[in-house]
Amino acid sequence: MVNLLSCLLLVLLSLHYFVACLAANTKNITTDQSALLAFKSLITSDPYDMLANNWSTSSSVCSWVGVTCDERHGRVHSLILQNMSLRGIVSPNLGNMSFLVILDLKNNSFSGQFPKELCRLHKLRVLHISYNKFEGGIPAALGDLSQLQYLYLGANNFSGFVPQSIGKLRQLKELDTIQNRLSGPIPQSISNLSSLERIGLSFNYFSAVNTKNITTDQSALLAFKSLITSDPNVCNWVGATCDGRYGRVHSLILRNMSLRGTVSPNLRNLSILVILDLKNNSFSCQFPKELCRLHILKVLRISYNEFEGEIPVTLGDLSRLQYLYLDANNFSGFIPQSIGNLRWLKEY
Ligand SMILES: *[C@@H]1O[C@H](CO)[C@@H](O)[C@H](O)[C@H]1NC(C)=O
Ligand SMILES: *[C@@H]1O[C@H](CO)[C@@H](O)[C@H](O)[C@H]1NC(C)=O
Ligand SMILES: *[C@@H]1O[C@H](CO)[C@@H](O)[C@H](O)[C@H]1NC(C)=O
Ligand SMILES: *[C@@H]1O[C@H](CO)[C@@H](O)[C@H](O)[C@H]1NC(C)=O
Ligand SMILES: *[C@@H]1O[C@H](CO)[C@@H](O)[C@H](O)[C@H]1NC(C)=O
Ligand SMILES: *[C@@H]1O[C@H](CO)[C@@H](O)[C@H](O)[C@H]1NC(C)=O
Ligand SMILES: *[C@@H]1O[C@H](CO)[C@@H](O)[C@H](O)[C@H]1NC(C)=O
Ligand SMILES: *[C@@H]1O[C@H](CO)[C@@H](O)[C@H](O)[C@H]1NC(C)=O
Ligand SMILES: *[C@@H]1O[C@H](CO)[C@@H](O)[C@H](O)[C@H]1NC(C)=O
Ligand SMILES: *[C@@H]1O[C@H](CO)[C@@H](O)[C@H](O)[C@H]1NC(C)=O
Ligand SMILES: *[C@@H]1O[C@H](CO)[C@@H](O)[C@H](O)[C@H]1NC(C)=O
Ligand SMILES: *[C@@H]1O[C@H](CO)[C@@H](O)[C@H](O)[C@H]1NC(C)=O
Repeated sequence: MVNLLSCLLLVLLSLHYFVACLAANTKNITTDQSALLAFKSLITSDPYDMLANNWSTSSSVCSWVGVTCDERHGRVHSLILQNMSLRGIVSPNLGNMSFLVILDLKNNSFSGQFPKELCRLHKLRVLHISYNKFEGGIPAALGDLSQLQYLYLGANNFSGFVPQSIGKLRQLKELDTIQNRLSGPIPQSISNLSSLERIGLSFNYFSAVNTKNITTDQSALLAFKSLITSDPNVCNWVGATCDGRYGRVHSLILRNMSLRGTVSPNLRNLSILVILDLKNNSFSCQFPKELCRLHILKVLRISYNEFEGEIPVTLGDLSRLQYLYLDANNFSGFIPQSIGNLRWLKEY
């Protein structure tokens, strides 16, 4: 009897804890409100009085400047505070806004570490914190933001390595880390990001794995020198522009010309080519991997063609590449891991 009673008591007690626990874990718009008030309390300068009077408990959170709620859950869906010259650190309490989809703090003066608590925002699709003063490492927990599509971290003071966990962001379409103090190798896991359309890595201190040195370029130029005299008129050909110093083809731009056929691997012999732009033609078949030997190529634009097959792994040998456009083709498979070698890449 005593046993039965104490057992019953135990059940009641645990039920009580269960209910209490449930209540504590149930988030509602009040949670969002206290998170935003905590965020406001750490803002030390708001020169245009954007939040000072507006973010007041006398009005609904959903009417606060920069805040949008979703109709279905009545919870905060986006927080957009661009160009407001706000100064301060970002409250970790923002991590409680469990329905947040867009967080955009671009172009303010937020500083300190990016709070890892924000990596609990599992619905987040856009994280835009470029043009601030964030410092320290990029938290590895960022890889937990499994819905993230747009990640802009550029023009801050982030340092350290880019975590491998970035490769878990399978929905990522755009990644910008331009102009920080990031170092170490670009993580190989980036090659797993098959949805990636644009990536910006330049103006950091990444170590390039395969950067070819200038001696290699010089010997390539010397090896092809005979071409100059055997083809003196090439500089007059449509689409070709020659370099004043060497008198050799420096750029080849053939856009919108409805050209059909395959690209000859012999183009690789244009060894001082800097720009190859074949956008919007009907070139088909595989992109010749031989062209990955154009060591000083800076621009490769072959969008809007009918190229197919896999993107050549040797693309990573184009170590000077800054602009790479492969979109609107029929390529299959993954972005090669070697893309991590392209340390000067600005747009992809
Ligand atoms: C939110 O939940 C808390 C309990 O966790 C409750 O006290 C409060 O009234 C709720 N707010 C709204 C607006 O439903
Ligand atoms: C806050 O700003 C928004 C947008 O500018 C405005 O619609 C709202 O009325 C303001 N609320 C208060 C209390 O000033
Ligand atoms: C912020 O400023 C930039 C540059 O002036 C501008 O392009 C952008 O539209 C502004 N954003 C907002 C939300 O006003
Ligand atoms: C940042 O915002 C200021 C206004 O507060 C604007 O003048 C400037 O152009 C913006 N810069 C960027 C990069 O958006
Ligand atoms: C929100 O998150 C912080 C830590 O990130 C926590 O300490 C706090 O209790 C949470 N507040 C609410 C109202 O859930
Ligand atoms: C960036 O951080 C470094 C230290 O890691 C510091 O020396 C430098 O002053 C910072 N730059 C800015 C613009 O805050
Ligand atoms: C890419 O993803 C696969 C499958 O999830 C995984 O096994 C592999 O380790 C990942 N590669 C890298 C370089 O992260
Ligand atoms: C370039 O690399 C070759 C070997 O790959 C090496 O022998 C040579 O010394 C290097 N030149 C410079 C300037 O680093
Ligand atoms: C190619 O065509 C597009 C769309 O008609 C046009 O915007 C672009 O300027 C053209 N490019 C050249 C180099 O003619
Ligand atoms: C491609 O070029 C044709 C003309 O040859 C033009 O009508 C079309 O708009 C161009 N498309 C793109 C995507 O530039
Ligand atoms: C150009 O390169 C091809 C290989 O892609 C080679 O077979 C050919 O001999 C080269 N042509 C000249 C004129 O050097
Ligand atoms: C693209 O490739 C697929 C599969 O290889 C093929 O079925 C389709 O016809 C191709 N489309 C074009 C425009 O070449």
